[in-house]
Amino acid sequence: MNNRKLLEIETDRLILSEVTINDLENIHKLHLMPEVDEFNTMGIPKTINETEEFLQPVIEAQDAIPRASYMWKVVLKNTNEFIGVAGYSLSNNKFKLGEIYYKLDPAYWGNGYATELAKRLVVLGFEYFNLHKVEAGVATKNVKSIRVLEKIGMTREGLRRKILPIRGEWIDNYHYAILEDDKRNY
Ligand SMILES: CC(C)(COP(=O)(O)OP(=O)(O)OC[C@H]1O[C@@H](n2cnc3c(N)ncnc32)[C@H](O)[C@@H]1OP(=O)(O)O)[C@@H](O)C(=O)NCCC(=O)NCCS
Repeated sequence: MNNRKLLEIETDRLILSEVTINDLENIHKLHLMPEVDEFNTMGIPKTINETEEFLQPVIEAQDAIPRASYMWKVVLKNTNEFIGVAGYSLSNNKFKLGEIYYKLDPAYWGNGYATELAKRLVVLGFEYFNLHKVEAGVATKNVKSIRVLEKIGMTREGLRRKILPIRGEWIDNYHYAILEDDKRNY
């Protein structure tokens, strides 16, 4: 029997629902887009089977107790259009850390959606997961995502040199984070 209880969250304009195998095609199409992959270590999948192999453990992780990771599909509330994905990785309970990520279809960039969902993930982290600190890593040249992390009140805590393997090169990464008692305007 499947006892999965999936976590759905909402913002003003978005609904985030945990991914299922029915999202395979949309996620595959997203992962095929070079703009989406530019600062990502995943690389463009060669076949849909490759995306399925990526998705399978994500779905299996929904059965873990306690949960250590979440991946949501992001859809527009008004039209139900799939616009991307977002996720969380959680540390064990002692450290109370969580790390967020997001990637959206370029057709929807520049509308504040990433900022809107990232704020919601931070609040979820503190209020629902009971975290102490929410973190995010970003390639140093990923100016759009850096802007998102700064808009949600994260602090750049450091530079991690050459930790991202991207298209045969080692790429630098900034480490960003927000503490539970850091100032937030949301
Ligand atoms: C990063 C990403 C999620 C941003 O999504 P989005 O919905 O367009 O983000 P928002 O609209 O909330 O905010 C983007 C900000 O970047 C700014 N921006 C856009 N292009 C920019 C540029 N070339 N230089 C500087 N800032 C830029 C926008 O103006 C906006 O800031 P503003 O509100 O102050 O004007 C999206 O570009 C994406 O999916 N990229 C590919 C995957 C990825 O890199 N994910 C992040 C991994 S850390």
